[in-house]
Amino acid sequence: MSQHTFTVNGKRVTVDADDKVRLLWVLRDLLGITGPKYGCGINVCKACTSHINGKAFNPCSVPVSAIGPDDEITTIEGLADPETGELHPMQQAWLDRDVAQCGYCQPGQIMAAIAKVKQARAEGREISDADFDEIRNICRCGTYSRIREAVRTAAAEMR
Ligand code: FES
Ligand code: FES
Repeated sequence: MSQHTFTVNGKRVTVDADDKVRLLWVLRDLLGITGPKYGCGINVCKACTSHINGKAFNPCSVPVSAIGPDDEITTIEGLADPETGELHPMQQAWLDRDVAQCGYCQPGQIMAAIAKVKQARAEGREISDADFDEIRNICRCGTYSRIREAVRTAAAEMR
């Protein structure tokens, strides 16, 4: 066991965990942050997608020892405005478009979508079908077309 300190959803946390424990289990089991879902555990299904320093990553495949004190992790729980509770435009678009079916994959889908919109913006363009094709998050319920509609709606709000 060793101590690991980092920031999650704007809060400093310190956890006691074996270096090899994957961050997903630190989030879910030690910190009670259950938005990132467990699907495959091997960086394939993307159900656990969260952000590290603003970029999408999959905490099921990252040992907690790889997270440093300056790293900032954001999960879906960290998207809403902490002061007002107002949802992130991507979350609101999901509700407005009634995207979710069983819901299991949806936190990861939203986190992947936000990162993709930001990546496209950083490259000076809007999100395109080619970007959507690069999102590998699996949805067993097949909500892909509504996901694309919601992302396009939210992207217009993310200025
Ligand atoms: S559980 Fe992390 S990618 Fe599948
Ligand atoms: S909504 Fe059920 S797996 Fe995506």
